[in-house]
Amino acid sequence: MSTPHVFVTRMIAPEALALLRAQADVDVWPHESPPSANELRERAHTCDGLLTMLTDRVDAGLLDAAPRVRVISNMAVGYDNIQVPEATKRGVLIGTTPGVLTKTSAEFAFALLLAAARRVVEGDQFLRAGKWQTWHPGMLLGRDLAGATLGIVGLGAIGLEVAKRARVFEMHVAYTSRTRKPEEEQRYGLTWIHDLSDLLQASDFVSLHVALTEQTRHLIGLKQLHHMKRTAILVNTARGSVVDQKALYGALREGVIAGAALDVAEQEPMPLSEPLLTLPNVIVTPHIASASVATRTRMAVMAAQNLLAGLSGQTMLHCLNPQAFVGRKK
Ligand code: DGY
Repeated sequence: MSTPHVFVTRMIAPEALALLRAQADVDVWPHESPPSANELRERAHTCDGLLTMLTDRVDAGLLDAAPRVRVISNMAVGYDNIQVPEATKRGVLIGTTPGVLTKTSAEFAFALLLAAARRVVEGDQFLRAGKWQTWHPGMLLGRDLAGATLGIVGLGAIGLEVAKRARVFEMHVAYTSRTRKPEEEQRYGLTWIHDLSDLLQASDFVSLHVALTEQTRHLIGLKQLHHMKRTAILVNTARGSVVDQKALYGALREGVIAGAALDVAEQEPMPLSEPLLTLPNVIVTPHIASASVATRTRMAVMAAQNLLAGLSGQTMLHCLNPQAFVGRKK
């Protein structure tokens, strides 16, 4: 077989590029911003494989414009940027990178939880604004984690790691998930609450760990926010559209809940005109939960390995649609 041609849609770790270059002709998008849909189509046109990011939309339009592409390896565990059935129909295998970012992402969710509970960002801004004039017993009072209840929505790998960290901080942990996990309940002392609204009512902190699907879009809307305690804090490191951002803004402004810490937004990058940014009780970070040096390297290497395996007809480490291989017309 001739050397495959692949396009990598962003500069990734050199270790991963070296792996790719050993077996393929590699074209890398060199800019900070992602290629536009048109640019991606143009680059993909002559390629056998693509290594994409969560910012690249893989839809019927792209797949039709890239008739030679046999494998698309997404450097993310989430894949809401990809129309998987469209890829499957065309015999295109889709790879993802689960596992390698679990702990890093859980650490970040926990960092946001702590930061929001103890008003870390507000404290920093307070000081820089020259407001630290004295020590005062009522200054910037936050909330304790110890003894509080954390409600986890979605007990997948990342949700479970967040739960384990919360237990070390002496929190009560309750969860709701598509499937009940009795073993984890027993092992880590977790409480299963079937109904989302009951979980929201019982929790002092709520952390979201579900994938974005049609079922989870706006899972947390006005009604759900009203089920939460007025003192509660919402943490979202999953996907922005799991939360109705407009409803969240209203709820935070009206004191329906006390605060939110978000690593993801309905529109990314979040525009500076976003009303949430006017509120002091919100922390927003730019989708960096998995952004540690080691983890981003592991993700890039795994994405490269997935791509190469798929191109050479070997079993991919993580493939969403292995059945696509069978249905291949090429
Ligand atoms: C993912 O992998 O889906 C994260 O959102 C980015 O690392």
